Amino acid sequence: MPAAWTDAQVELAQRVAGSDVVSVRQWTPQELRTLLEIVERFEGIHDPLLQGKVLGVLFFEPSTRTRLSFESAMMRLGGSCLGFADAQISSTSKGESLWDTVRMAECYCDIIVIRHPREGAARVAAEATALPVVNGGDGANQHPTQTLLDLYTIHRRKGVVEGLKVGFLGDLKYGRAAHSLIEALGKLGNDLVLVSPQALRLPRRRLDELDERGVRWTETTEMLDAVPALDVLYVTRIQQERFGDPLEYERVKNTYQVDLSVLDRAKPGMVVMHPLPRVTEIHPSLDASPQAAYFEQARNGVTVRKALLALLMGALP
Ligand code: NCD
Repeated sequence: MPAAWTDAQVELAQRVAGSDVVSVRQWTPQELRTLLEIVERFEGIHDPLLQGKVLGVLFFEPSTRTRLSFESAMMRLGGSCLGFADAQISSTSKGESLWDTVRMAECYCDIIVIRHPREGAARVAAEATALPVVNGGDGANQHPTQTLLDLYTIHRRKGVVEGLKVGFLGDLKYGRAAHSLIEALGKLGNDLVLVSPQALRLPRRRLDELDERGVRWTETTEMLDAVPALDVLYVTRIQQERFGDPLEYERVKNTYQVDLSVLDRAKPGMVVMHPLPRVTEIHPSLDASPQAAYFEQARNGVTVRKALLALLMGALP
């Protein structure tokens, strides 16, 4: 018998039913903790909670994990999915506005997940419809469901999230997965180490936000200096598609590669994470290491998205 729902879990579930997931900013630290507890309740749940419900998948940017795991989560809870994964085959290519596309999707489904290259697009979509809208990534801005699966993976691996020292490596200028997770860990009071080339530092306004919260963070360009102190190393891809100047990308694309020799310098329990897709920043020889958690992240994505879809649709096990 699973443990009974706590008052905090029930209260949060009631509050989020019918609402949107646009940004990690919308969650308090306590809500983040409670959300992770609720996600855990969905391990192994395959009940047809969302039978007869349709998820609209509006993806204006490439995706493998986010789209497939949302679709898998919906189908595993008995629901179905429709939508597009290539905006060129939607009427966007004829000049239809995002607003209108969302108003149309609203006629065909019960909940929407959207990915879009423009920052703020998910918020626009949420304003266009009364249906719950989930942000599957808006430009370089936010990727809140990725953050939940990242936090969930850290929690499962380390038993805790709070108190850990987490390093971020790679593209901290454009990486939305990093931006969202940095914001959430900042709320939870974690110590952060930011490792990037000078040109790809975390934007000033995000650093200022960390300062306003009193978060302890340090910055360096040197991966090997940072690694020994870390409990988690969150590696990110250099976001080629967001560079204005292709030459600038060429200059920084191979700055870092995490391989087995890097693990030699790390604490034995340091966990290596990556939202994927990776290019060259993690050597495949690391995949077999018990410290590699990136495929587990992708797997946890289904559980997290099952929980979120059920919560937003007000359908609980
Ligand atoms: C990330 C994304 O799209 O922001 N991938 C993902 O959703 N798992 C990271 C990336 O593209 O580098």
